[in-house]
Amino acid sequence: MKKQVKNNVYWVGKIDWELEEFHGSDYSVTVGSSQNSYLIQEEKTVLIDTVWSPHKDEFVEHLKEEVDLNSIDYIIMNHGEVDHSGSLPRLMEEIPDVPIYCTKNALDSLVGQYHHPEWNFKVVKTGDSLDIGNGKKLVFVEMRMLHWPDSMATYLTSDNILFSNDAFGQHYAVEELFDDLAEQGLLWEQAMKYYANILNPFSKLVAKKLEEILALNLPIDIIAPSHGAIWRDRPGDIVEAYAKWANAYQEDRITIFYDSMWEATTAMAHELAREISKASPSTKVKVFNVAQTDRNDLMTEVFRSKAVAVGSPTVGRDILTSMAGILHFVKELHFENKKAAVFGSYGWSGEGNKILREKMTEAGFQVVEPEMKIKWKPTAEDLKQAVEVAKALTE
Ligand code: FEO
Repeated sequence: MKKQVKNNVYWVGKIDWELEEFHGSDYSVTVGSSQNSYLIQEEKTVLIDTVWSPHKDEFVEHLKEEVDLNSIDYIIMNHGEVDHSGSLPRLMEEIPDVPIYCTKNALDSLVGQYHHPEWNFKVVKTGDSLDIGNGKKLVFVEMRMLHWPDSMATYLTSDNILFSNDAFGQHYAVEELFDDLAEQGLLWEQAMKYYANILNPFSKLVAKKLEEILALNLPIDIIAPSHGAIWRDRPGDIVEAYAKWANAYQEDRITIFYDSMWEATTAMAHELAREISKASPSTKVKVFNVAQTDRNDLMTEVFRSKAVAVGSPTVGRDILTSMAGILHFVKELHFENKKAAVFGSYGWSGEGNKILREKMTEAGFQVVEPEMKIKWKPTAEDLKQAVEVAKALTE
């Protein structure tokens, strides 16, 4: 069933309550999600984006209940990724000649994935527009690398709706559709998790694109992303949040994450937390064992932090694989302007700290000199190493 967004603009997407992971297993989906598709019924009928392929039959059947598919004049594909384009082949079986508006890069991604170069593609670039009647126009804005080279946003004049695709989205199932009806804690938590885990590597481009969009002086009443709640109540707040998040974001927080074999590194993590709290009582300190923590939630904690401490015992002249995997992810997300400290226990050769130091430096963190490196099981005296580390992280 279509749901009204504003005037003749309707949501025709899929609320995906059962979704548990995204991008393979790289993103944990804990509160459902949605793939938002929009139908505009002015003099021209326009469909913006589709939904993920497992829902393609349901999507097309529901769409048929709302509109004669043959009356669709234009399809806008803001992005070629499968969660938004997956139902396109099914839809094109029904209406093979309908023009598909997309960026040059989306032409490449759509043809590359679906192998239909004969579809009626119309390539658009920033500033191009499409008249849809009743005095309204769609204006296209390329969103290159936000988060794919093919990404684009579409702005509907007069109704002042920005269909932003992935930008400003959340993996959060909101049957009520709108930001003001969503649970506020979850909404903002999921918006931040989405930014930290998907958009953070492109923060410089996000900042530039926001400036570019704001310079256009387009009135924006609604931001309608391709996942989660539609921002009709507080579109300005999410734009403001993105402007902050894109600028080497940090809070007065320190995140400690580690893995341990026989609890020695665990004891070091806990002592470090106590010392940080002593050195700076206002700083929010959290400790995570990476083997027991959702890694996307952990990345969100890192995103919010001004500093981190990472710990692993030395094993086989290296670090634990759980930590190696997490540090790979940390590097991939390109955090900026954050300090790091390293800690770990050892029995013989003790390369762990050196490796942690290298990996965190490579990931762009400013690694502080003091560290905790303790042979075998820590004594109370050994644990005093935490004092200097805490000082270096909090000063
Ligand atoms: Fe929601 Fe990049 O796809």
